[in-house]
Amino acid sequence: MMSEFGSTLSGLQGEAYYPSAEVIAQANVPDPEALRKEARDNPEAYWAKRASELDWYAKWDKVLDDSNKPFYKWFVGGKTNIVANAIDRHVKSWRRNKLALIWEGEKGDVRTFSYHALAREVCKFSNVLKSMGVTKGDRVTIYMPRIPETVIAMLATAKIGAVHSVVYGGFSVEALHGRIEDSESKVIVTADGGHMNGKVVELKKIVDEALKRTAAPENVVVVKHIGNQINMEAGRDYWYHELMAMPIVRQQQRCETEVMDSEDPLYILYTSGTTGKPKAILHTHGGYQVGIYATFKDVFDIKEEDRWWCTADPGWVTGHSYIVYAPLIAGATSVMYEGAPTFPFPDRWWSIIEKYGVSIMYTTPTAIRGLMRFGAQWPNRHDLTSLRLLGSVGEPINPEAWRWFYKNIGKERCPIMDTWWQTETGMFMIAPMPAMGLKPGSGSRPLPGIEAEVVDEDGKPAKAGDEGFLVLKRPWPAMVRTVYKDPDRFVKTYWSKYPGLYLAGDSCRKDADGYFWIIGRVDDVIKVSGYRLGTAELESALVSHPAVAEAAVIGLPHEIKGVAIYAYAILKANVEANEALVDQLKQHVAHEVGPIAKPERIEFVASLPKTRSGKIMRRVLKSRALGMDEGDLTTLEE
Ligand code: PRX
Repeated sequence: MMSEFGSTLSGLQGEAYYPSAEVIAQANVPDPEALRKEARDNPEAYWAKRASELDWYAKWDKVLDDSNKPFYKWFVGGKTNIVANAIDRHVKSWRRNKLALIWEGEKGDVRTFSYHALAREVCKFSNVLKSMGVTKGDRVTIYMPRIPETVIAMLATAKIGAVHSVVYGGFSVEALHGRIEDSESKVIVTADGGHMNGKVVELKKIVDEALKRTAAPENVVVVKHIGNQINMEAGRDYWYHELMAMPIVRQQQRCETEVMDSEDPLYILYTSGTTGKPKAILHTHGGYQVGIYATFKDVFDIKEEDRWWCTADPGWVTGHSYIVYAPLIAGATSVMYEGAPTFPFPDRWWSIIEKYGVSIMYTTPTAIRGLMRFGAQWPNRHDLTSLRLLGSVGEPINPEAWRWFYKNIGKERCPIMDTWWQTETGMFMIAPMPAMGLKPGSGSRPLPGIEAEVVDEDGKPAKAGDEGFLVLKRPWPAMVRTVYKDPDRFVKTYWSKYPGLYLAGDSCRKDADGYFWIIGRVDDVIKVSGYRLGTAELESALVSHPAVAEAAVIGLPHEIKGVAIYAYAILKANVEANEALVDQLKQHVAHEVGPIAKPERIEFVASLPKTRSGKIMRRVLKSRALGMDEGDLTTLEE
């Protein structure tokens, strides 16, 4: 299997791991180089072939419309709905009685859904949404713990052609408020609370507080999950179980799936960008389903009998693409777990693998590093022989964590698929396939149909081994279509540095074997434990505290979290700087943005380095904190 860079099954430079003959023999893609070549020779024909593996109400007229760059369109003229592929077609087949979802709560309660059962719940909730006046194109905010109703609400929204905006349940008041307001959602779906690490996360309380800051949406639907006492506002708040039992919903049972154009919006998902408020990334029905399905099948080699477990939260893109949509489109059985990996003991995850016979596990470097700390005796208590593949996502995985995962969880049998992608890409972009050689810390090479490059400041390909900007050279079906309500920002953020190239925002190296090594973000995004946060949102949370006049936030390396948040604050006159205030500010950020946003350290300073135009030079703060050369500071005011 030779590629333009040489073989990927032998002779890779540096530390490399090769799959067994057994892994190669059963792989969905036994010859990755051949597939890459096929896609490179005729990308549109390749994607059309992959799209043909799915159901369409009407076939597309054109695979790719690039007449209005960078507003690319895919499968133009095609009629579809992602739910028709995720649910409807399985219900018509033998898979109707196959398990779609096995859910375990943090307290140990278990719920399972066959495709048939999931379809029924989705239909009922679609009818609930319809009864609330939700129609095609309307937005629905979903702010939930990790429970089956999250999946049901997402599918039910998409089924009727409405657009979901899932807000991660770990976000808090201001983050939620901003996202509800910007999306102009008609309905919010939430729960009384969720279980996390033995504690209750009071989601409904946060919703109540967020709604005090905005013109309320018409309806709030509340899932009773915890059974705690909550406030229900008459005329606005409704219990999910009562709505699902309404005669009109019970009698109807079924709900027709709305026929959508390929390019109709499926969802928006807020993510932090370079500067300013989080932006809503927009994905559509047609291309997105093709991209996530093809990559899921190729990279995670999914088979009918697999048990797939993605440990992410549906509130992030990983959950959208690879907990909800791709596994369902593939007709797979997914495991979903509500709580913390260490509750009540650090072997909770390993016990889940054993109990449900998980065969493919997809998780994050932070989680691996965190669990590694407790030692191999915890996984060693469990039978992990059901595993055949592992995966990693969200941040660069350090080789030490990779090796630990490979040895202690995969028992040196299970290849690790380190997948590089983003909210914006919708699907895996740079990732191995099982029948390839792996290098710990590298996501290997761009997938078939994807062309990535590392370029220098001028946009020229960087030399092998040199650090540069990661760009994507060719459009792909699951790509972001625009920033919701802000097309200029879409063009400016991703397509303006190098005309015709998509700028990922990551710095990267490509080695002599053509393997990509992601180094980290080069913009104002901080990836704390793999969670994507923006400096702007964090700084605005800090200055919303009455004691703070100005703030700047940077990310610094952290042993477990990968990157941790360091904040610098200028206090208002007459405010006393003390430890109690540091704690108060940390709590304040957690309350406004979410617990994941809590700064590791807050330092009070008299001034902040700024350019003449008043822009904070975070680069300088970072260099100082790391004790590095501060570079050229001539543009600085102070
Ligand atoms: O910096 C890269 C990092 O996560 C960013 C995208 O974050 P988000 O949109 O939240 O999506 C995360 C889940 C897909 C990227 O720009 N990143 C993601 N996966 C990897 C990664 N960095 C290194 N290796 C990865 N496998």
